[in-house]
Amino acid sequence: MSHPSTNLQFSPLIIGTMRLGQWGAQMDTKAYESFIEQCLDLGVSDFDHADIYGSYTTEAEFGEVLRSRTALRQKMQITTKCGIKLVSENWPDHKLKSYDSSAKHIIKSAEHSLKNFHTDYIDLFLIHRPDFLMNPQEIAEAVDQLKQSGKIRYFGVSNFTPGQMKLLSKYVQIDNHQYEFSVTHLDPLNDDTINFCYESGIKSTAWSPLAAGALFKDNIKQEHRALKELCKSLCNKYNCSLDVLLIAWIRKHPSRITPILGSTKILRIASVLEGLETEISTEDWYTIYQASTGKEIA
Ligand SMILES: NC(=O)c1ccc[n+]([C@@H]2O[C@H](COP(=O)([O-])OP(=O)(O)OC[C@H]3O[C@@H](n4cnc5c(N)ncnc54)[C@H](OP(=O)(O)O)[C@@H]3O)[C@@H](O)[C@H]2O)c1
Repeated sequence: MSHPSTNLQFSPLIIGTMRLGQWGAQMDTKAYESFIEQCLDLGVSDFDHADIYGSYTTEAEFGEVLRSRTALRQKMQITTKCGIKLVSENWPDHKLKSYDSSAKHIIKSAEHSLKNFHTDYIDLFLIHRPDFLMNPQEIAEAVDQLKQSGKIRYFGVSNFTPGQMKLLSKYVQIDNHQYEFSVTHLDPLNDDTINFCYESGIKSTAWSPLAAGALFKDNIKQEHRALKELCKSLCNKYNCSLDVLLIAWIRKHPSRITPILGSTKILRIASVLEGLETEISTEDWYTIYQASTGKEIA
């Protein structure tokens, strides 16, 4: 069976930028520059942003590197997102946290991101969360305008239900869906998110693929203890680290989901990259699934 498909391609891992700046590692320009260069040297060239990261500061901090090192831009793909309006001193006219997918907001956000990155195109532009009031035709017109003017190359969504994607895809091509998926967040397997993307040729990407670091913590939640113990024994079996195992679990799915890794440490990114060929058995995949739900499958 043939699937409608997009030409959008990702590097084997996508680097999440949410924790690089004020919401995490507090990198300065030099640290961003070194981080970006090392990722590119490893062959990881996709960077995932959102306008809101660092309360509207991370895009511009990252972009500061591109301002002085213009040659780096062609070596990377930039994803960014719009549609969440945070209350922030950096965007004082937002009075209430809300979603906005009006054409005016989409275009204004894209232009703002272009300025932040000192670039004239965004590779992939996403609507960050589904706006209950979304008008699919209006979104399509805004996306069309941005594509026609070369300001964005591909368009996608994040955290949408299959129904919301189905509606929107009647008006505009969705190239990517970015959703939460990990050993502690199994919903996409059960709510048709993955199936819908697979069937529609929409590229799947997984945010928080390492469960946002939950299994690495010393004060791990009670509900995750058995899962962690099991994962540790499987790490021994496959002779790999926990992060490699968690990524192997995601990559076992035949729909080829690309993880968006949130680590701010190059050594960890390099180690996950090195372990990408680790394959776990189907039984072990299901053992992890069942340890996560705490019950045997039907
Ligand atoms: N679309 C959306 O709604 C949405 C929502 C959330 C996130 N995102 C995107 O997804 C990206 C990834 O999300 P995430 O950061 O939650 O992903 P993640 O990869 O699941 O978690 C990253 C966290 O795990 C920690 N970690 C990783 N390996 C570790 C290890 N071996 N030992 C101890 N700690 C370890 C990292 O700390 P270190 O930095 O110290 O390694 C970091 O705090 C974000 O950057 C963002 O781009 C999208």
